[in-house]
Amino acid sequence: MALSDKLKQVNPSEIRKLFDLAQGVEGLISLGIGEPDFVTPEHIREYAKEALDMGMTHYGPNAGLPMLREAVARKLKEQNGIEADPKSEVMITVGANQAFILGLATFLGEGEEVLIPAPMFVSYAPAVILAGGKPVEVPTYEENEFRLSVDDLEKHVSDRTRALIINSPNNPTGAVLTRKDVEEIADFAVEHDLIVFSDEVYEHFVYDGARNYSIASLDGMFERTVTINGFSKTFAMTGWRLGFVAAPSWIIEGMVRFQMYNATCPVTFVQYAAAKALEDERSWKAVEEMRNEYDRRRNLVWKRLNGMGLPTVKPRGAFYIFPRVRDTGLSDKEFSELMLNEARVAVVPGSAFGNAGEGYIRISYATAYEKLEEAMDRMEEVLRKRKLT
Ligand SMILES: Cc1ncc(COP(=O)(O)O)c(C=O)c1O
Repeated sequence: MALSDKLKQVNPSEIRKLFDLAQGVEGLISLGIGEPDFVTPEHIREYAKEALDMGMTHYGPNAGLPMLREAVARKLKEQNGIEADPKSEVMITVGANQAFILGLATFLGEGEEVLIPAPMFVSYAPAVILAGGKPVEVPTYEENEFRLSVDDLEKHVSDRTRALIINSPNNPTGAVLTRKDVEEIADFAVEHDLIVFSDEVYEHFVYDGARNYSIASLDGMFERTVTINGFSKTFAMTGWRLGFVAAPSWIIEGMVRFQMYNATCPVTFVQYAAAKALEDERSWKAVEEMRNEYDRRRNLVWKRLNGMGLPTVKPRGAFYIFPRVRDTGLSDKEFSELMLNEARVAVVPGSAFGNAGEGYIRISYATAYEKLEEAMDRMEEVLRKRKLT
């Protein structure tokens, strides 16, 4: 199949469409965007300036700067229990996003299937399609706090299944897999001989004692896992476009070869700043402050949504919350349009994240506390006025 045919199957994201509609709505509060409202900590910005002044303005290695690969390997060992050789098992990418298509393209055969728990991050299915594979949605359920279970996986695995994507903490539901969940998923992957993509970009934003368990740290799992992470969420560096991957060397080798003809390499001075940031205590202090603030906002939004009659699971991670809106009698798209037009609050219809998201909306609480309060007041007023809850 030609790439243009594949592109036809990849629709513009529903989130983009909503932003187009939202343009021109005066006094709009956007709870639609999935990025930290914080500015990158000052010392990290200073490191980038330092790199520029040092003349780090040239091409770098396709796999990323050795100093950053080494810092990433140390981080993975200390924080995630993953032992990866910085020379052959670590790669730096242009955001975590780029890692999916690069990684999938290294081994996926035409039409091979990839299991994706849904509701899912909007880039996964397009990455699978563009890499020549077939995305297979595995629904997760509110009753199970949207955590993926092996029972759900068993219903969708076939002899064409080659890989599985997991994302904990999850975008858009905020679900966090428990250690037991991760162990069971690992057994399932071994049993069906699958490669696992583990997207851990929200690993530091976990609450109520939850924590991230990296599947690659389990016995025998490194050799079949592509661990994907990045700087966008952790250090509020979305615009810097920097991610990293740990995987077995045969996958990294393929990804690096692809990168040679794609972006060539991530931005050199950005990589320097990230390497310094990983080993600077101030960065981790900033992460802790962001985590505490997200937690405060999470408590507010969760309480207010349930209070206005929208049943909402308390998320244990990331900075999203996923209320059920179908009981209002409106579809998730109608509900989002109503909120946009009458409450002047932008939220994302759950169906933008796959069929399993129908009847829900995603709210991002990566927005100032006062704005969240105002948005909740406005939403509640519209629901009352229209007698929807
Ligand atoms: C689950 C998930 N993975 C990956 C990404 C992409 O991150 P990056 O900015 O590093 O490409 C996002 C961004 O929203 C995300 O939510």
